[in-house]
Amino acid sequence: MSFDTRTFRDALGLFVTGVTVITTRDPDGRPVGITANSFNSVSLEPPLVLWSVARQSRSLAAFEQADHFAVHILRIDQQDLSDQFATSMTDKFAGLGPLTGLGGIPLLKDYAARLQCRIYGRHPAGDHIVFIAEVERLDLNRTARPLVYHGGHYAKLADMPPTG
Ligand SMILES: Cc1cc2nc3c(=O)[nH]c(=O)nc-3n(C[C@H](O)[C@H](O)[C@H](O)COP(=O)(O)O)c2cc1C
Repeated sequence: MSFDTRTFRDALGLFVTGVTVITTRDPDGRPVGITANSFNSVSLEPPLVLWSVARQSRSLAAFEQADHFAVHILRIDQQDLSDQFATSMTDKFAGLGPLTGLGGIPLLKDYAARLQCRIYGRHPAGDHIVFIAEVERLDLNRTARPLVYHGGHYAKLADMPPTG
């Protein structure tokens, strides 16, 4: 390897992403969620997406045992929600009053897009586990502006495509 971890992280930080909160429930029915920007598209037919979770994440056990999860693609005004779900050992759902979706998963009410997914495959990969899932239900707010992340910071797009 001709580079160190810091340089690798810096290189990946140049790849601009959106921000998601991904939710499921544990075997006792408790809601679980995590902020993730590793989310990406995989396939249109069937509709597949992926994301990866760190092995050290406290949420991992719940995702390993779940059948479903929900991906909430965040709006530009949801940075506080992103921080809330990126903080371990707190009541991440405090004040949110989640709805119930497929397989009993908790759903957030506010989002740019919300994808309810059935897990299609789990793939251990280094210090992360990659989850691939099939999208079974989709809700979207076409006029929403997405929250953006790169280089370890939230950002705003200077130019946005027309909405509607
Ligand atoms: C913008 C952003 C993106 C993140 N993306 C991921 C990710 O894709 N996978 C991951 O495992 N953690 C990611 N994290 C870190 C987790 O959200 C964070 O470690 C969280 O505290 C884990 O919570 P848990 O230990 O309760 O599972 C991200 C954090 C931020 C702020």
